Amino acid sequence: MSKCRICDNTFDPFISFGKMPIANGFLTSEEFEKEYFYELKVGFCTKCTMVQLVEQPDRDMMFHDNYAYFSSISSMMAAHFRDFAKLVMDNYIPDKNPFVVEIGSNDGIMLRHFADRGIRHLGIEPSGNVAQVAREKGIETLCEFFEESVADHIKAEHGQADVVVAANVMCHIPYLDSIVRGVLRLLKPEGMFIFEDPYLGDIIEITSYDQIYDEHVFYFSVTSVQYLFNMHGMQVIDIMPQNVHGGSMRYLIAHKGVFPVSAKVKSQIQKEEKLGLHKKEIFNKFRLNVERSRDGLVQTLTNLKNQGKRVIGYGATSKSTTVINYCGITPDLIAFISDTTPTKQGKYSPGTHIPIKPYDEFCSKYPDVALLFAWNHGEEIMSKETKFTDAGGNWLVYVPEVRIFH
Ligand code: SAH
Ligand code: TYD
Repeated sequence: MSKCRICDNTFDPFISFGKMPIANGFLTSEEFEKEYFYELKVGFCTKCTMVQLVEQPDRDMMFHDNYAYFSSISSMMAAHFRDFAKLVMDNYIPDKNPFVVEIGSNDGIMLRHFADRGIRHLGIEPSGNVAQVAREKGIETLCEFFEESVADHIKAEHGQADVVVAANVMCHIPYLDSIVRGVLRLLKPEGMFIFEDPYLGDIIEITSYDQIYDEHVFYFSVTSVQYLFNMHGMQVIDIMPQNVHGGSMRYLIAHKGVFPVSAKVKSQIQKEEKLGLHKKEIFNKFRLNVERSRDGLVQTLTNLKNQGKRVIGYGATSKSTTVINYCGITPDLIAFISDTTPTKQGKYSPGTHIPIKPYDEFCSKYPDVALLFAWNHGEEIMSKETKFTDAGGNWLVYVPEVRIFH
């Protein structure tokens, strides 16, 4: 039995992926011996419906001065955050001296648009290396973990915020009560908190079990997000589904009673209830789908190996750590993983230690098959890799199902 991180109820896990290393813990061969492992197990709370990890490594083991994820590596995500910033500027900031705060601002992919327009802003980013990249672009960045006490400091120093934004970070933070209390105090009475994260409904629907890894301690639905904010005198006033990261949901949150609530909120909650996102049956079915996906991928990779095909991985994503370790994918099945992030290159993947190589190595000798770990950037990647497919290369994907195609 585990204790719910939101409402203190107890719950049982519905799936274990076994021992897992730190998802973004790309490492050198000297570091193999001291690699850290924990058990990746997920459960859901029958009271507040929050889907969550049972165990999460300490935050300092995941977010530090060598953090591997640089948001601006994807041009598709850069365009996404340009549009997100525009939505905020067009609708939610006042003409007079606005102030925008971002939690988990990384290398400044979103805040740069506010900085470019001379809008008062502050990013809160605990990973020192990515925070430094943002500062070099002229983006005001505080290198701290956001929590209640930090919110109070910001408020004392800069005043309250008109808008607080957060993307792909709320689901990372186990102490959400402190975060929500902090946002509550930092936001002006008519302010708006806008955040987005991968959406539970999509994860279940397309069996994207690779969204489950150490950093993602929560898997949100509108129902569970509503429960969380209601506990603190705030409410979800609107939702906006997003295509990124395999299906995300953007939540617009305000102090209770200040703004009317969109009918979309209620209808999505009804949809989630109909789907059974609050019942154990759907999670048991998800587990069976995950097992089927794992068996299909292992079988496919084994067949390719037996046929003498050369297979490489495309994109050393954090998500791939779950797939690689859960499926037991070793360097005899995948020769290396190609990735454009300089800090990942020359290192090894967490757990089974597949070499990570620069993108040039993929281009200089195309493999027979590329296993697309960065499937969420599939459109962007496939449109720029026509030479690979023209040369006879095939893609292998596992979301929504295991499939090889040209
Ligand atoms: N918003 C960016 C980055 C997402 S990755 C994007 O969507 O691309 C998550 C980021 O949140 C990391 O840069 C990590 O260092 C940061 N982070 C983790 N815990 C945090 C916390 N408590 N407060 C603020 N940022 C946090
Ligand atoms: P992403 O799927 O965004 O994130 P996560 O780590 O959260 O699972 O990571 C994309 C990775 O893929 C990143 O390491 C960069 C790499 N990548 C490429 O190598 N080539 C590309 O064209 C793109 C878009 C990404």
